Amino acid sequence: MPVITEIEDLRRLHQKRTPKMFYDYAESGSWTEQTFRENSSDFDLIRLRQRVAVDMSNRSTAATMIGHDVTMPVALAPVGLTGMQRADGEIKAARAAEKFGVPFTLSTMSICSIEDVAEHTTKPFWFQVYTLKDDDFMTRLFQRAKDAKCSAIVITVDLQLLGQRHKDLKNGLSAPPKFTVKSVADMMTKVQWGLEMLGTKRRFFGNIVGHVDGIDDPSSLSAWTAQAFDQSLDWERIKQFRKMWDGPVIIKGILDAEDAKMAANVGADAIVVSNHGGRQLDGALSSIRMLEPILDAVGDKIEVHLDSGIRSGQDVLKALAMGAKGTYIGRAFVNGLGAMGQAGVTRALEVIHKELDSTMALCGERDVKALGRHNLLVPKNFSGEWD
Ligand code: GLV
Repeated sequence: MPVITEIEDLRRLHQKRTPKMFYDYAESGSWTEQTFRENSSDFDLIRLRQRVAVDMSNRSTAATMIGHDVTMPVALAPVGLTGMQRADGEIKAARAAEKFGVPFTLSTMSICSIEDVAEHTTKPFWFQVYTLKDDDFMTRLFQRAKDAKCSAIVITVDLQLLGQRHKDLKNGLSAPPKFTVKSVADMMTKVQWGLEMLGTKRRFFGNIVGHVDGIDDPSSLSAWTAQAFDQSLDWERIKQFRKMWDGPVIIKGILDAEDAKMAANVGADAIVVSNHGGRQLDGALSSIRMLEPILDAVGDKIEVHLDSGIRSGQDVLKALAMGAKGTYIGRAFVNGLGAMGQAGVTRALEVIHKELDSTMALCGERDVKALGRHNLLVPKNFSGEWD
């Protein structure tokens, strides 16, 4: 059993144990990957303030996100094709999250369907919505999420079309994978992955296949998003979605103060400051840089969360201390899943939790809810040097 002390250990194992096309899908950004890289490197620019001789016993990372109790304010982000990183991946990740006491968000583009995840878990999860052109499908999708007792809807607003990820196109990414000489040669070296995949029926986009008309090739991500996604999505449509859901609505993919105000105006309960993990608009600023201007615009009206670039408990701490009420990890939990299945997702959560807890202590804080700018040393004009 390999010793796992950091997310990087899981990433390496993920790379070793998972077919290249799925590993690359998770670990890439769009075009030049500038935004993808800066999501991480901008976290490194923020430093922590060391405080000593403070009573650090009885610490707590417990908090709430949209009123839900969480062991730590770190949710699992919606990630497409999670069930291709490991067989039944969404069920495994949801179970790990449930046991750990953090929210799991199921993607519209998941392999396991909403119904399937609901059947194999005991607590409600959050459901992420992409807007497809087929209105009937959308109405049914909301109803399916309701029937599955999902406890929040996360509407993604930054992907009406897909940012180009070179590796996915070159690898011929599809679910299930197409058998080419190259992909078969690669899969033959990923024995455990292959055996588990042969043992499951869940190999297609479970929320889509059989539920939506007019898609010629539902296996190819880039082809079907181009065909099926509604490029005309606007705030009016988002307002309608708000009306279609009685519970909390989170709007994900906000990177601009004006858009944050729009999200608050349509009645969202929370927003996620996000650039989709650097997978959409390459050249956009990192989420962590955009957090403060967005908090200034809407922080008293709406709960503000952050994703994109979080790979450690230290990153979580920095985001919270900058003012986010919650954070999300995507790649970090997928690394765990690809490395070791459900146990790997649990390990990823444990690693991040321990880093958050110990770092908090070394900053002289005992309660995650007390974190603030006083814990940080932030470069001057970190968020304001752009015009
Ligand atoms: C979908 O959410 C993606 O980024 O591929």
